[in-house]
Amino acid sequence: MSTGAYSSAYAASLADPTAFWGEAAKDIDWITPPSTVLDDSRPPFYRWFPDGTLNTCYNAVDRHVAGGRADQVAMHYDSPVTGRKESFTYADLLGHVRRLAGALAGAGVGKGDRVLVYMPMVPEAAFAMLACARIGAIHSVVFGGFAPAEVAARIDDAKPKLILTASCGIEPSRVVPYQPFLAEGIARSEHKPDKVVLLQREQAPAEVLDGWVDWQEFIGSPAGDAGADCVEVAATDPLYILYTSGTTGKPKGIYRDNGGHAVALRWSMRNIYNVEPGETMFTASDVGWVVGHSYIVYAPLLTGATTILYEGKPVGTPDAGAFWRIIAEYGAVTMFTAPTAFRAIKKEDPEATKLAGHDLSHFRQLFLAGERLDPDTYHWATDRLAKPVIDNWWQTETGWPIAANCVGLERLPIKAGSPSVAVPGYDVQVLDPIGDQLPANTEGAIAIKLPLPPGTFPTLWQDDERYVSSYLSAYPGYYLTGDGGFIDEDGYIYVMGRTDDVLNVAGHRLSTGSIEAALAGHPAVAECAVIGVHDDFKGQIPRALVVVKSGVDVEADGERIRKELVERVRSEVGAVASLRQVDIVAALPKTRSGKILRKTMREIADGHTPAVPATIEDAGVLDRLAPVLRPQG
Ligand code: COA
Ligand code: AMP
Repeated sequence: MSTGAYSSAYAASLADPTAFWGEAAKDIDWITPPSTVLDDSRPPFYRWFPDGTLNTCYNAVDRHVAGGRADQVAMHYDSPVTGRKESFTYADLLGHVRRLAGALAGAGVGKGDRVLVYMPMVPEAAFAMLACARIGAIHSVVFGGFAPAEVAARIDDAKPKLILTASCGIEPSRVVPYQPFLAEGIARSEHKPDKVVLLQREQAPAEVLDGWVDWQEFIGSPAGDAGADCVEVAATDPLYILYTSGTTGKPKGIYRDNGGHAVALRWSMRNIYNVEPGETMFTASDVGWVVGHSYIVYAPLLTGATTILYEGKPVGTPDAGAFWRIIAEYGAVTMFTAPTAFRAIKKEDPEATKLAGHDLSHFRQLFLAGERLDPDTYHWATDRLAKPVIDNWWQTETGWPIAANCVGLERLPIKAGSPSVAVPGYDVQVLDPIGDQLPANTEGAIAIKLPLPPGTFPTLWQDDERYVSSYLSAYPGYYLTGDGGFIDEDGYIYVMGRTDDVLNVAGHRLSTGSIEAALAGHPAVAECAVIGVHDDFKGQIPRALVVVKSGVDVEADGERIRKELVERVRSEVGAVASLRQVDIVAALPKTRSGKILRKTMREIADGHTPAVPATIEDAGVLDRLAPVLRPQG
């Protein structure tokens, strides 16, 4: 266990959070520096830097231009799927963001208004986020892999004044038109935006529909020419809303405020990710996920570092050497992605022959997060790269790591299978069902003692009640992470998986509820359940169990229904749901109160023999289902 910089920082962060985060706040340029660091007068609602004011875009862009980094590259855009590469200096970035912010302001978007961003990995997506921050508008980026049902749910909750989109995204195997999904999403939602701004891409231009406007025309307007200056916002004003999956079909609007976010992300770059101003970080994710928000866009830019926006995949664009090329070509000192990306590389190039010819001497370490880092993948990456591979555990809700080996502070020994120790600011504990702390090495619910540190979500967007009932009511005074696991005698945390029904497919967080809602909409379906089962490549994949309505002829129509259900999930939720297996079954196992026993089914499907809950209504249903569920072969 550490006796050095990590343990003193950790102890200081819990003993005196005000002094700790007050010091970290000095790395941010405030308009009015906060005189209070933490407002804890209304538990369980805590606010960081309540009387400070600032602008996040100023901190991410303008201050670097003013401070001598105007000619330094802020962002490299590298798109093997289109063959385009472009580098933007901080001065270039400021020009693009000022213009788009001006055009948004000219269209009536102001402080507190929401702007939905439904875009692929193009530079304009990052400009859009920063332009909103500049004028105090709240962006809500929707992952491009989501289909109309998910888009509509987000429009209705965020109620955006305006939507920014592009004509298509590009996947290695196909061009994905965005316009039909967005148009359908808007048609289904009750709330309607004033305007949609469409970025045309030559791979699949789209029709500029009624009420839509072309991107170039929009930014070329007099308001765009005039540009917009940074607007002063309170540290506690929202910067963005990012929807994430819960167990129900209704996504949770995680919102992030301006002040705590800037302070925490800036701190994390030096102390966790080990990146200094002027250095390059490569994060391979998508701006639609929290990893993209934090470590493609905001944290590197808040630091004055260089980020890389990579529109490609770990394999197939063109091959398993893509990441090595990027690291070498742009001199990245740190890379961050999900374990599944490394499993993809390992599968395609087990000997890592594609590393040859790429100079990675400047590369310091690889960070992996988003799902459990299995020891096999950890060892493979460590052996091939001959660099430290750092697992880190966090969630959309927290916005930055809860557990990590804080290599910028002090590199601790790595234990395969553990994302190491609690990050300063997080008092992580493992609790039993009545809320008592469990001894070392005993598995239970992982919870974090309140208050959560700066940069985490202060509540859910316009829904304090759901915030409390979803996260804070299980253990008063604690935030329930939804993950289960244990802490060993050295303080190393082991995260074993979700204790609820949230799915994690290839590092993408998906809701069983959304997939079930799509299935239930099929006329032949009486009831259904979706469970996440182990998959060697994607970590987990969904499996659907469906009971059909009486009168449906399964012999004759079963195959057709199964195909239609797979297609339905793809067109309602999105291709990322990756549902392939649908089983038509006679009945679903339930408790006497009617709750479907998803966890028990999941454990059987993963090859375990679970204890059957005493509250089961009819044990025979489960017995008959077990052979269908059990892994084959
Ligand atoms: N827009 C539209 N469709 C998308 C999409 C997007 N942004 N992202 C993925 N999809 C589609 C894919 O094309 C695929 O469609 P298909 O069924 O027609 O082949 C489907 O959704 C499933 O995608 P994915 O889960 O990404 O699987 P994959 O087999 O295409 O690729 C990996 C697997 C490992 C290469 C890929 O998941 C990856 O690069 N992961 C990196 C980790 C990551 O970004 N995690 C996010 C959080 S850190
Ligand atoms: P998301 O909100 O999409 O970032 O997903 C968060 C969830 O992903 C967590 O609650 C975990 O279940 C899982 N997760 C993320 N990182 C890790 C990790 N390093 N180890 C284990 N699980 C992880």
